[in-house]
Amino acid sequence: MQLDGVTVIMMTMIPILKTPAGELYQTDCFELLSLVEPESVDLAFADPPFNLGKKYRSGIDDDLAAHEYIDWCKEWLDGMVRALKPGGTLMLWNLPKWNLQLGGYLGERLTFRNWIAVDIKYSLPIQGRLYPSHYSLLYFVKGPKPAIFHPDRLPIPCCRHCGGELKDYGGYKDKMNPLGVNISDVWTDIPPVRHAKYKKRDANALSLKLMDRIVSMASDPGSLVLDPFGGSGTTFVAAELTGRRWIGSELHCDDILDRFGSLDGDREHIQQIKANKNTLFTAATIARRAKSGTPLSKNYRINGREPECVCEPDSEQQQQPLFSPS
Ligand SMILES: C[S@@+](CC[C@H](N)C(=O)[O-])C[C@H]1O[C@@H](n2cnc3c(N)ncnc32)[C@H](O)[C@@H]1O
Repeated sequence: MQLDGVTVIMMTMIPILKTPAGELYQTDCFELLSLVEPESVDLAFADPPFNLGKKYRSGIDDDLAAHEYIDWCKEWLDGMVRALKPGGTLMLWNLPKWNLQLGGYLGERLTFRNWIAVDIKYSLPIQGRLYPSHYSLLYFVKGPKPAIFHPDRLPIPCCRHCGGELKDYGGYKDKMNPLGVNISDVWTDIPPVRHAKYKKRDANALSLKLMDRIVSMASDPGSLVLDPFGGSGTTFVAAELTGRRWIGSELHCDDILDRFGSLDGDREHIQQIKANKNTLFTAATIARRAKSGTPLSKNYRINGREPECVCEPDSEQQQQPLFSPS
């Protein structure tokens, strides 16, 4: 693969999908990883099968003995580590049970940054156990610090009905960054992929919001993103639509080919995601507050984005500006 004059994959394989930004190979992850140029990748992300005995259309065995599963994961993780540039980021999505062991392995090769808990309920409560409610997203970098790190900032959490802040910032409102609140290592705003419009055929698809956040944090436009377990292609879509280059493998590529057949829905979705981050209040919150006649405190500094008004302001609201200019 020739990208910006850097060969990142030997030309012995033909991609099943090629876009101006990326290449998908219908092959085993080990084959792809063995061909990727060492130290060529800025962000390597993996969302492997979780060894839960699920049926995959690729026909893989998802019911290995625990030690076999861990050994298999270690082998492709070695390939991902090799592919990373110095300062590159590796992110691993899995159940806490597996990431506990895989994190220890990675910690001997890379620098640990965070265990990000992504609050998504994924099974029914289990008798005698705590209700499993988070996935683990392990964040490592090659070398002492990341070459690229620009985490999104998030809007202040507000009531979906009245738009009121769920937390009172008291006398600190004027100190709040107009671009939003610092993101923590607990993510509570990632939806499961349920909406018919965004639900891809593969039952294991991750949310585009999650992948956009990861891609935005650890890569720049033009960076190279690698994902050896393509699934329905969420990583590739996030990369493609934000100007990154990408490379990946998948054993059963139909869902990805289908998805890339028309990216209109994903494009619209990603615009919506972008409009609702790096801002202290979303346009929807501002509109809700305007509608309910409770404008935001003038002490907040708000970036230049104009609220998208959903209603005709009444005369009282017209006298009360939504926010003071910064
Ligand atoms: C959990 S899914 C990934 C979902 C993806 N992150 C998304 O958002 O759509 C894991 C995928 O890995 C694929 N897979 C499993 N073993 C593989 C292997 N050895 N090489 C390449 N792909 C593999 C499966 O077919 C499955 O689609």
